[in-house]
Amino acid sequence: MELREAIKGRRSIRKFKTDEILRSLLEGIMEEARWSPSWGNTQPWEFYLITGQPLAELKRLKREKELAGGPPAPDIPMQEKWPEAMKGRYGELGRLVLDTLEIPREDKEARNRYYLGMAGLFDAPCLLVACIPRDLRVEYAMLDIGLAVQTICLLAYDRGLGSCIMAASVLYPDLLRSIAAIPEDRRVVVGVALGYPDESYPLNHFERPRAKMEDFTNWVD
Ligand SMILES: Cc1cc2nc3c(=O)[nH]c(=O)nc-3n(C[C@H](O)[C@H](O)[C@H](O)COP(=O)(O)O)c2cc1C
Repeated sequence: MELREAIKGRRSIRKFKTDEILRSLLEGIMEEARWSPSWGNTQPWEFYLITGQPLAELKRLKREKELAGGPPAPDIPMQEKWPEAMKGRYGELGRLVLDTLEIPREDKEARNRYYLGMAGLFDAPCLLVACIPRDLRVEYAMLDIGLAVQTICLLAYDRGLGSCIMAASVLYPDLLRSIAAIPEDRRVVVGVALGYPDESYPLNHFERPRAKMEDFTNWVD
């Protein structure tokens, strides 16, 4: 696939078919993802690919925890307050999601159903979890993980798979630790839901807004 087509065509998929992904296909993606750049070629990442029964169990426990209102305790703290421009874009995404799904703002039940779907990883048959050693400074390690994760999403797209990078998938790292035997000395950074896109789901097709090039590019010449 042409690179530019992959960069533009990849988008967050928020409903997957339940079809399993062949192990050999996932191996091909991870094999090629090795070529992602990292600080000093340190390659600080470690990935766990959870599928099958362990994933079903993870989804069950995660839903249970969210329904019970269990307070999230992610290994990477979440942004609490956003600068105005970003707050605006975040809000716009929320509105687009509700509009596309035809959920009225005041329909709390329908919104909760959507969030429960997110807790169930949008039915993805695979969750890839990215980890780093706990004793690393997070700043550059996060950059390294980001580079690898985008590479993985593009490689997945090239193979006909959809992906959704999901902070929501790592709200309860202890659940992941127990299901995937992730050692205590690893920090769970982010998860990526992987699977075949359900093309009939409107949220997999809405038009995504982006800032204009001039809004974030400064020329110094
Ligand atoms: C670090 C990170 C965390 C994200 N977490 C979530 C999430 O928990 N749930 C979700 O639906 N999308 C999540 N996303 C997807 C973003 O909403 C998405 O990338 C953004 O809206 C741009 O849309 P696109 O990926 O379709 O181009 C996350 C993306 C990133 C990079």
